[in-house]
Amino acid sequence: MIFSNPAFIRRRGRMTKAQLGALGRLDQFLMDPAVDAKAVFNRRAPTAIEIGFGMGQALVHFAGCHPEWNCIGVDVYRPGIGSLILQCEAQNVGNVRIVEADAVSVLERLEDNSIELMMVFFPDPWPKKRHHKRRLITRTFGKLATRKLKVGGLIRLATDWVPYAETIDEALKDNPGLQGGVSERWSFRPETKFEERARRLRHHVQDFCYTKVG
Ligand SMILES: C[S@@+](CC[C@H](N)C(=O)[O-])C[C@H]1O[C@@H](n2cnc3c(N)ncnc32)[C@H](O)[C@@H]1O
Repeated sequence: MIFSNPAFIRRRGRMTKAQLGALGRLDQFLMDPAVDAKAVFNRRAPTAIEIGFGMGQALVHFAGCHPEWNCIGVDVYRPGIGSLILQCEAQNVGNVRIVEADAVSVLERLEDNSIELMMVFFPDPWPKKRHHKRRLITRTFGKLATRKLKVGGLIRLATDWVPYAETIDEALKDNPGLQGGVSERWSFRPETKFEERARRLRHHVQDFCYTKVG
């Protein structure tokens, strides 16, 4: 089913030896999104999910600062998955699990009303018009994400691509289950190479924050 999502493009990338070695330990981090988080983490706790974690800096930072949370990372970029494992190991962060699959298929399999925080930072902007259908954030994505959030749960996003910021606003503003919009930069979002590049190119980085309302 994962190929039905036009936003899903599996990307290869150069991998360091350490990242490759870490992928050999992926089994210890993998989770099945259809399995109850309590069974996966061995505890009931607030759950955060980052979609498209890239190299994993934001997720490991959040998880390290919130050991009382269960944290799930979703991506298909293998060097990034290796990098996330390495950071969890180096920083002794034990509350992260990984799903290596398309974000939409993962959300579809997660239990409804089960997520306190969803993060999507610098989703691929797909600037060419003919590629817009590949963008992850759409009204349909918004509806699916809302279903997965608990009431009072948050979805936080950031992009440096103004037309994509407009797409995010369009996709989420009329969603009756969400309240919110543009927001201040979130203090838990560390600067990754995407934001650093944005700063270099003088792109405006826009954060968004929405709350699921009952
Ligand atoms: C531009 S990068 C941003 C990475 C990271 N969030 C950051 O801010 O540094 C987008 C990431 O989303 C992942 N991604 C894109 N589409 C995806 C999808 N449909 N399912 C899972 N991951 C996806 C890519 O593999 C990539 O790692």
